[in-house]
Amino acid sequence: MSEMTENQSAVEPAKETKPAEEQRKTEAVIEEFPIPDWVPEWARDAPKIIVRAPGPKSKEIIKIDRDYVSYAYDRCFTFTIEKAAGSAVMDADGNVLLDFSAGIAVMNAGWTHYKVTKAIQDQASKLIHSMANDAYFDKEAYFARLLSEISPGKALKGTFFANSGAEAIEASLKLSRYYTKRSEHLAFFGSYHGRIGAGLALTSKLKLRYSYGPMSPGIIFTPFAYCYRCSFKQTYPECGLWCVDYIENQVLNMAGTTGPIASLYVEPIQGEGGYIVPPKEFLPRLRKICDDQGALLVFDEVQTGFGRTGKMFACEHFNTIPDILVMGKALGGGTPLGAIIAKHDIMRKWRPGSHSSTFGGNAITMAAGLAHVQAIIDENLADRAAKLGDYAVKLLKEMQTRREIIGDVRGKGMMIGVELVKNQYTKEPHEATNIQGKCWRAGLLTLTSGFYGNVFRIAPPLCLSKAQLEKGLEIFENALKDEEEFLKLGTSAPPGKLGGHA
Ligand SMILES: Cc1ncc(COP(=O)(O)O)c(C=O)c1O
Repeated sequence: MSEMTENQSAVEPAKETKPAEEQRKTEAVIEEFPIPDWVPEWARDAPKIIVRAPGPKSKEIIKIDRDYVSYAYDRCFTFTIEKAAGSAVMDADGNVLLDFSAGIAVMNAGWTHYKVTKAIQDQASKLIHSMANDAYFDKEAYFARLLSEISPGKALKGTFFANSGAEAIEASLKLSRYYTKRSEHLAFFGSYHGRIGAGLALTSKLKLRYSYGPMSPGIIFTPFAYCYRCSFKQTYPECGLWCVDYIENQVLNMAGTTGPIASLYVEPIQGEGGYIVPPKEFLPRLRKICDDQGALLVFDEVQTGFGRTGKMFACEHFNTIPDILVMGKALGGGTPLGAIIAKHDIMRKWRPGSHSSTFGGNAITMAAGLAHVQAIIDENLADRAAKLGDYAVKLLKEMQTRREIIGDVRGKGMMIGVELVKNQYTKEPHEATNIQGKCWRAGLLTLTSGFYGNVFRIAPPLCLSKAQLEKGLEIFENALKDEEEFLKLGTSAPPGKLGGHA
């Protein structure tokens, strides 16, 4: 099924924006989008830096951590988090940071949303472990029903709850093999689907796979529609999507598969790959490939889901419905939760015992996730993300005319990538780590991504206010300006060890 049903809420794919429409859009976002009333006083005027980080309390914890916690965590920042609310994070020494990261696109309704906190507290006082493997649990049923109601085109029904995005990917790969009785899969350069098992096998970056050996055979990678740096040196739209022609004509015939594939994995907007928005025809054409192959189309919306892109799910921008939708991050409202939802006939194929998890459908994660997703719906946060996101892109494009270090600005809603270059014409990447550090010192939390570690991802909580957005972008531009001065001197600040992870 490649078309959306009549009663769904998705709009047509983006058309060329006319100047008058542009003007109206800009006027629409003149709304203030104030900080919500529930956000406490201390979190309303971020940033506030009172001590150079790491302060003494942060240091004390970091020292113990370095002794006892695995070094595998790739920490971006040397502070210890104490508390967070709305769009602000406080460190152990009382510094308040404005947050453009949402804990890697998790806290969509805002940190410590009062409804999520209350749902967890109420649930914890009654039942913590739901024994969902063995008995039925009310919130699991309600949550699965809600996910079906908000699924793209209301076309998906039947949820399996797991404990993380990667576990949900694992479930999706098993389901696609179980359903098709095939075992080969297609994924994209720049993809990120997790760090264990199937998720790692489907993740393309060498750095993340290095020294683990093949996690699963039968996975073929092909270039994503990354038009700013096209693998085929083509230009959109003249190319007619060469990258998809390549899949149709070459990959599926010559990459050494043993037959039609079981499933094709794609992030509707690439996350770790660098917040890359593909052209509007990309996903519909992948849908067609899967239909022709009898393969399942799997959308990984772990990072793009739940209002982040200005729609409940990013695939709604592209009018394309997957066979399996993978969810995580914001799904659990800050608790560890992942899930897949599929077309009903596909999910129904799984018989009892086909897959399982002790903690999937856990009472606390169900209560938290249900409250979080309901808050996103009730507070119209997808719409807020769409409008504030348009405004942010407008400001960033203006910034690009002033700052030569910005090569590309792209995004949907509050999932915006700013790609840095040494020169806008050569597009030589400029690593973002130093600027990330400068932003942090000035009180702004940002994350980076992209193959070259040169893409800033702007992914704040969706309750961010317009004033907070403007303040954060001002800090961001100051950091860029500072870096440009280093570049002009030919002494770009030394590479640091700050960031670039999932
Ligand atoms: C698109 C995507 N898929 C899967 C994952 C893995 O999720 P988790 O870290 O919860 O295992 C991530 C995490 O960043 C992601 O961005």
